[in-house]
Amino acid sequence: MSDAHDKMDRMYRYQRHFYDVTRKFYLLGRDHLIEKMDIRDGQKILEIGCGTGRNLAILANKYPQAEFFGLDASAEMLESAITKVKKQDLGNVILKMALADDFDYSSTFGLTEPLDTVFFSYSISMIPTWRESVDNAVKNVKSGRVIYFVDFYDQRDLPSAFAGLLQGWLKRFHVKYPEGLIPYLTKLEDDGLGESEVTPLFRSYSFLAEFRKK
Ligand SMILES: C[S@@+](CC[C@H](N)C(=O)[O-])C[C@H]1O[C@@H](n2cnc3c(N)ncnc32)[C@H](O)[C@@H]1O
Repeated sequence: MSDAHDKMDRMYRYQRHFYDVTRKFYLLGRDHLIEKMDIRDGQKILEIGCGTGRNLAILANKYPQAEFFGLDASAEMLESAITKVKKQDLGNVILKMALADDFDYSSTFGLTEPLDTVFFSYSISMIPTWRESVDNAVKNVKSGRVIYFVDFYDQRDLPSAFAGLLQGWLKRFHVKYPEGLIPYLTKLEDDGLGESEVTPLFRSYSFLAEFRKK
């Protein structure tokens, strides 16, 4: 097992049991992302770093005629996701253990064509190889389709004392604003690979970004 798998398992072995209850108070913007996604029957949607499967379960219930895929580095988190999917009897969700920077729609999920939508919800900020992971997501989505990101933003519109406290607290969980990401999406845009758009949420506590592949 690689270091990335091991590290995430150590982090989430116990946390996964109270993850959904606690994270709903501070992983803000996940429901904005779910609302924003325009999913059609038959489409294939992948969440990278799906954790306990919270987002996938909401989506799979909302769009029973679409197919949902989730991958995660942590076998522990996937165990929670598998339990959730079974409990809710969701036949349209497939989960795999894989890393963001080296999965492939064909070898990981047995698909014959790239995905219709790929999203990262509070995972890109935890992935050291985030550039490679963005490149890999671009490779695995169809042309004309979107990759979404929701994550912590720079908190520029929050009172500075609160922003400082928040950043210190997030550090304890190995997460911080992925400051290179938005410039990197702009670079991909400049390279002619697609178009990006960023929307700050909750006074810049978090952001929702979309990258539409050319
Ligand atoms: C903060 S959780 C977010 C879970 C879920 N997306 C949500 O919105 O509730 C981040 C997840 O990313 C996973 N992760 C971290 N690094 C990863 C990597 N390199 N490849 C795949 N998943 C990774 C972690 O194991 C964890 O489940």
